[in-house]
Amino acid sequence: MRLRRKPEAKKILSEHPLVVKVPEEYRGKWKSLFGRPCPLYVELGTGKGQFLAKASEIYPDINWIGVERIEEPLLQAVRKGEATENTNLRYIWMDVEKLAEVFAEEEVDRFYLHFSDPWPKKRHAKRRLTHRRFLEVYKKLLAPDGDLILKTDSTILFDFSLEEFAEAGWQIIEQSRDLHQSPYAETNITTEYEEKFASRGMPIYYVRVKPEKPS
Ligand SMILES: C[S@@+](CC[C@H](N)C(=O)[O-])C[C@H]1O[C@@H](n2cnc3c(N)ncnc32)[C@H](O)[C@@H]1O
Repeated sequence: MRLRRKPEAKKILSEHPLVVKVPEEYRGKWKSLFGRPCPLYVELGTGKGQFLAKASEIYPDINWIGVERIEEPLLQAVRKGEATENTNLRYIWMDVEKLAEVFAEEEVDRFYLHFSDPWPKKRHAKRRLTHRRFLEVYKKLLAPDGDLILKTDSTILFDFSLEEFAEAGWQIIEQSRDLHQSPYAETNITTEYEEKFASRGMPIYYVRVKPEKPS
């Protein structure tokens, strides 16, 4: 994602009320931040934030968090969130690598991975957000009935992810290689990247999975 550097972005984000300053302090206590015991849904790699702004409007009974590591897209996301005036929405300026420092075991009800960087070179596979090392972390942090949704335009990332899910014992609940022509399209909330790829006629790959958890 190429965005012009905005020198003021860092300052605005570090002072913005929708950006959680020290997210580690809320580990195990996110419900207290929102002041209500609603399910917690976390989007990893939020980008410019269209999904979260729309989703928090459509589903007010969910607590929504966006994680993004680059300040320019995050600032755009925060501006969109601000415009909604929704109280069920926060942002964390952080790398997904630090996820387990910020969320406790079984604290998250759903993770979203929307158009994550595909890292097409094989030698970079470990950086893909569905690499088994990330799946281990997501599995720990997901509540017993929690799930993960992946959408991508990348055949490489999608096929790789399906292999990683299978290898790690995750169960496929829903799947489509053309989301917008599938029954799941009805409830789908689009992201910026999704609209860009769909407008070029590209199919959107979609999967919802659950980790195998001891019952
Ligand atoms: C291709 S963009 C997609 C943005 C948005 N989800 C969408 O669908 O429009 C991927 C985003 O994920 C962010 N990202 C990639 N790896 C990340 C990581 N390890 N931690 C946090 N954010 C990450 C990037 O900075 C970028 O904003």
